[in-house]
Order: sequence, then structure tokens, then C-alpha cells
Amino acid sequence: MKRLMNRIRLLAVRAPALVVFKFAVATIAAQFALPAAASDTTPPPLSEGGHFVEKDGAALYGAICQGCHMPQGQGAKGAGMYPALAANPRLASAAYPAYTVLHGRNGMPGFAERLSDEQVAEAVNYVRSHFGNHYTDPLTAADVAKLR
Ligand code: HEC
Repeated sequence: MKRLMNRIRLLAVRAPALVVFKFAVATIAAQFALPAAASDTTPPPLSEGGHFVEKDGAALYGAICQGCHMPQGQGAKGAGMYPALAANPRLASAAYPAYTVLHGRNGMPGFAERLSDEQVAEAVNYVRSHFGNHYTDPLTAADVAKLR
């Protein structure tokens, strides 16, 4: 009888600890669930090889660039500084944005491994001819290849 009482007491002590443990597991699980939920709304545009699948400039811009440079290329300031691509005179020379997309620039990652020469040319031609930029001399895939 005494042993049984001891056992019950022991269980009583353990029970709250178990609740706390369960809560901790749920909290940790919830934290892991969050990024997964976020990526549900923005499906990863990468193919199996880690390559972007989009082919035309508008789609590439939407899949990659607009996350940082915003949908109208207006850029953003907040936790970081994302320069506007809209009406940006630095796009006058196609080599500048092409090099930036390939190799990155300070806070911007490079995409050389994830984009083909054609895709880089498409994305660059898109930003150079949209958002108030009117540079019509096209960047070719061969131009991009030279900048790799
Ligand atoms: C993860 C965020 C991010 C993504 C994605 C991104 N950029 Fe950027 N980009 C930046 C940041 C930050 C800078 C500023 C770098 C610096 O400090 O000079 C920048 C700079 C640039 C510049 C130079 C602007 C200037 O005025 O000097 C160009 C051009 C550019 N990005 C084009 C693109 C294009 C095109 C894409 C899509 C293929 C793209 N970026 C994707 C963050 C990003």
C-alpha cells in the first residue's frame, strides 16, 4: 500500500512536467511549421538541379528579383536596403546588371549557378526595358557567357 502511494505521488509530480514537455514539443513543432507554411504560398521556382525553370524575363523577374526589388522595381528600405531598379541610370550599360545578377553585389546573392546565360539575358533585358527604363539594345546570351 505504501509503495502504491509512493507511486501515485511520483506520478503526480511527473504529470506537470509531462505537460510542460508536451507544450515544448508543440512549440518547437510550430516553429518548424512556420517556414513550411510560408513556402506554401510561394512555391519554390527551382528545378531539381537547383536551377530556375522560368524562361522569359517577366517570369524570371517575378520568381527571383521582385522578392527584393519589389513588383514595380521600386526597391525597398527596411531591414536592408534594396535599390530601385525603376528609372535607374545604372542600367544604361547592360554589363552592370548582368554582372550583378551573375556574381551578386554586397547584399545581393549571385545567380550564376542557378540561371543559364539565356535566363540572365532575359531578366536583364526585362528590367532594362520596364519600370521606366528604356534601354533597347539587347543583351545576348553570348554577352552573358563572357561575364561568367
Ligand atoms: C535577395 C535579394 C535580392 C534579389 C533576389 C535580387 N536582388 Fe538585386 N540587389 C539586392 C541588393 C541588396 C542590392 C544592393 C547591392 C549593393 O549594396 O550594392 C541589389 C542590387 C541590384 C542591382 C544594382 C542596382 C544599383 O543601383 O546599383 C541590380 C541591377 C540588381 N540588383 C538586379 C537584380 C535582378 C535583375 C534580380 C533578379 C534576377 C535581382 N537583382 C535579385 C538584392 C536582391
